[in-house]
Amino acid sequence: MKVLIIGSGGREHAIAWKVSQSAKVDKIYCAPGNAGIAQYAECVDIGAMEFEKLAAFAKEHAVDLTVVGMDDPLVGGIVDVFEKEGLRVFGPRKNAAILEGSKAFAKDLMKKYHIPTAAYENFDDPEKALAYLENAKFPIVLKADGLALGKGVLICNTLQEAKDGVKSIMLDKKFGASGNRMVIEEFMTGREVSVLSFVDGRTIKTMTSAQDHKRAGDGDTGLNTGGMGTFSPSPFYTKEVDDFCREHIYQPTVDAMAAEGRAFQGIIFFGLMLTADGPKVLEYNARFGDPEAQVVLPRMKTDIVDVFEACVDGTLEQTELEFEDNAAVCVVLASEGYPVKYEKGFVIHGLENFENKDGYYVFHAGSKKTADGIVTNGGRVLGVTALGKDLKTARANAYKAVDWIHFDHKYYRHDIGKAIDEAKEK
Ligand code: AMP
Ligand code: GLY
Repeated sequence: MKVLIIGSGGREHAIAWKVSQSAKVDKIYCAPGNAGIAQYAECVDIGAMEFEKLAAFAKEHAVDLTVVGMDDPLVGGIVDVFEKEGLRVFGPRKNAAILEGSKAFAKDLMKKYHIPTAAYENFDDPEKALAYLENAKFPIVLKADGLALGKGVLICNTLQEAKDGVKSIMLDKKFGASGNRMVIEEFMTGREVSVLSFVDGRTIKTMTSAQDHKRAGDGDTGLNTGGMGTFSPSPFYTKEVDDFCREHIYQPTVDAMAAEGRAFQGIIFFGLMLTADGPKVLEYNARFGDPEAQVVLPRMKTDIVDVFEACVDGTLEQTELEFEDNAAVCVVLASEGYPVKYEKGFVIHGLENFENKDGYYVFHAGSKKTADGIVTNGGRVLGVTALGKDLKTARANAYKAVDWIHFDHKYYRHDIGKAIDEAKEK
């Protein structure tokens, strides 16, 4: 079987690696891919938003299944273009990817179908948003409606901050057209957990839980990033929480989308907050998380291609989905200065240390092959993942492997999974 993967980050590297483990697959293409993905796949120089070109490539090369890793092409309707050409593709159509593409849509869906989430109001008029803030409780959360590279969420502690936030989102268009509408919602407190799931339109099967560390600095300080590291499973995701979410969140979301004529096929990523009043939805994404995929997929036992195909064919109910009873930690190696300003082009040393080492992985996010070797080519450069029998062992293994890699201005957090482990031990 021939598989085409769309995307170029650490998430797509993890997907490509997992697809390469399938006995069914004899050829993988990745567009556009990166230097790490090139170990398993033939990288094709077509951008993720060039839908017609990608579909033409898939036809020409008799690709059996295309897997879309990234949010932008999904929200832009890549799946509809592939389906129109008669191509098999894993991922939601445009009318379903809106679950991630519009926060206002997601909030209205949850309200209509009684799925627990923070109280909110949607606004498309900045004057009305500003007036609403006058009587609001603080802190309060402002969200640009559309995709904003994970940066369109502002947590505001004072009225003045919130007013400035509305101005930057809706008037100054800091996040572009994403800020034509916005959601203002109640601030929630609790533990955050990410749960990824496979969905075939009707049936949903969840993967093991994970947690991301979004802030740039140790101890959750500094700016928000795309994610500085993850661990899986979350010790706070108990059987009780899982039971509640199955009944009140997961299946109801899939049923709600189907009832709206927007049957969802692909990955639903549930960003959850475990509040004192029970689990609530922070956000939905329509794809694997990055770097959540880098801890979840190494723990997955099932052949991922079987699961992708079951989603496309609507046979997920009959498909087993199994995970190892172990733990994984992923530490992101970034370029010093990320997410603001950083240099690129430094040679990466030590990648060979991961060859033939069971339970250790190095997933490339921003790297490039040059005549001098593989060099840094982005803010997030690599994700180093290690497995272990429990979180503590996985963390120790991951940090040991972090030292195998060297490049100028290497920067990483030292506490991925640490505070959680300590809190749990108390
Ligand atoms: P989102 O992109 O919606 O997941 O938001 C990014 C981050 O902002 C989340 O991971 C949370 O840490 C935080 N956040 C979002 N919404 C809320 C909320 N209603 N209350 C507290 N924190 C929030
Ligand atoms: N790591 C968060 C995300 O992929 O959205």
